[in-house]
Amino acid sequence: MENTVVIGAQWGDEGKAKITDLLAEKADLIIRYQGGCNAGHTVVADGKTFKFHLIPSGILYKGKICFIGAGTVIYPEVLNEEIENLKKENIDLSGLKISPLATITMPYHIDLDGASEAGAKNKIGTTKKGIGPTYTDKISRHGIKVQDLFDKEGLSHKLDEILSLKNKELKEIYGLKTYSKEEITDICKKYAEILRPYVCNDWQKIYHDALKENKTILFEGAQGVMLDVDWGTYPYVTSSNPVAGGACTGSGFGPSVIKEIIGVSKAYITRVGEGPFATELTDETGDKIRNIGAEFGTTTGRPRRCGWFDAVVAKYGVLVSGLTSMAVTKLDVFDTFDEIKICTAYKDTRDGSVSEYYPTNVNIHKYLEPVYETHKGWKSDISRAKTYDELPENAKKYLARLEELMGVKISIISVGPGREQTIFVK
Ligand code: GDP
Ligand code: IMO
Ligand code: MG
Repeated sequence: MENTVVIGAQWGDEGKAKITDLLAEKADLIIRYQGGCNAGHTVVADGKTFKFHLIPSGILYKGKICFIGAGTVIYPEVLNEEIENLKKENIDLSGLKISPLATITMPYHIDLDGASEAGAKNKIGTTKKGIGPTYTDKISRHGIKVQDLFDKEGLSHKLDEILSLKNKELKEIYGLKTYSKEEITDICKKYAEILRPYVCNDWQKIYHDALKENKTILFEGAQGVMLDVDWGTYPYVTSSNPVAGGACTGSGFGPSVIKEIIGVSKAYITRVGEGPFATELTDETGDKIRNIGAEFGTTTGRPRRCGWFDAVVAKYGVLVSGLTSMAVTKLDVFDTFDEIKICTAYKDTRDGSVSEYYPTNVNIHKYLEPVYETHKGWKSDISRAKTYDELPENAKKYLARLEELMGVKISIISVGPGREQTIFVK
C-alpha cells in the first residue's frame, strides 16, 4: 500500500473509521491529524464494536505506531476513558503516541462551547466538546500544548497571561464560574499524568526513520470536507481542516509523501448539527434511511439528518481534497428501496439557472433546489457480497453513475459494518 490519506467527503460519519481500520492492517504508522473528541469513530472487528474519539482507528492491530498528531486537540479526560476501555479489552497500547505539539482542551473550553451555543441566535449545533474554543485559543496563541504540561515554569507564565483573559470571558460575557490558577495548575498536573506514558518527544527520529525505511503511512481524517473551516458550509463547520491538505499541516509530513487520497462517502448523506443540506429528507424516506442505517451520533447520540447522495458535494470534495478514489459505504442500507435518487445539480429558483458546482455562500441555499435523477433499487440483500461481480445489476448501475458524476473511481464498497463486508474494487 502507498502512503494514503483517508478523509470524510461529506459532513462526517461516512464510515471513515471502518476504512481506516481495514487499510491500517497494511500500514506501519497511522496518524490522526486534526479534530478532537468531537469525532466518533466506530470499528466493528470480530463481532466487537469499538468506538474511538481521539485514538487512531489502527490501534486494534498489534505493533502499529498510532500517532495523535500536532493538529489535533486533546481533551485528556476523554482520552483517558478511551485508553481505559481499550485496556479492559486487552488491546495493546504500546504503539500509541501523542504529539507534544497537540493542543489541550481545558475545562473552560468546554464551558465556553456550551455557553456560546446556548446564547447564540444562530446555533451551529456543536458537539459541545470545546473544539471551537480550543482551536480559537491555539490560533490566537493562547493554547496550552501537550509539551507545556511538562514545563512547570513555562506553564506558570502562560497561565498568568491566559487565565486573566479566560476568566474575563467566562464571567463578563457568559456569567460563568471562573478558575483560579491553583485549580488549573492541579488540572494540568492530572492531565500530564494521563498523557505522560504516550507523549512522543522523539517523533522527529521516528518520522526520519519511517521515511528512510519506506514505512507505510496512513493519515486518518476526522469530520469531513463539508465541515472544513475553510472549505465547508461556514459557519456551520468544525474548527479544523478535515480536507486532505490538513493531513500535512496536522501530521508534520509534507505533501510529497502522500500518494493516495481516499474520500469516504455514504451511498446517501447524513449531517448532525445545523447548516444547509440540500438533499435532506424530512419525510418517511429520511426516517427509513435513519432507521435502517442506525443514523444516530456516536459522540452525542443525536439523530442524524438523512438525505439522498449529492454528487455536487462529492465532486466538490474530489476537487478541494484531490481525491484519487472514493470509498462508498452503507450501500446495503438501500437493499429494500424501490427507487434511489442522486442529486446531480442545484437549480436557483430566482432565475432558473442550473449549476453543478457547490455554492459556498450558505445564505443563498434557501433559493436552491436539488435536481434529481432516479435510479431503480436492487431489492435484494447485498450484505454478503464479496466481489463487485456479485452485486446486483442495479447496484452496479448506481455505483457507475456515481463514479461518472464524481469524476473518480470507487475503490472500496462497503456493504455492512464488519471488516468482511467490504469489496475492494480491482
Ligand atoms: P466515521 O465517523 O466516519 O468513522 O463514521 P461513524 O463511525 O460515526 O458512523 C458510521 C457507522 O456506520 C458506524 O456505526 C459503522 O459501524 C457503520 N458502518 C460503516 N460502514 C457500514 C456499511 O457499509 N453498512 C452499514 N450498514 N453500516 C456501516
Ligand atoms: P466524525 O469524525 C459528524 C459537527 C457538529 C456540528 C459541527 C461543529 O465522527 O465524522 P464541533 O463540536 O466540531 O465544533 O461542531 O461539526 N461535527 C461532526 N459531525 N461527525 C463528526 O466527526 C463531527 N464532528 C463535528 O455536529 O455540526
Ligand atoms: Mg463519526
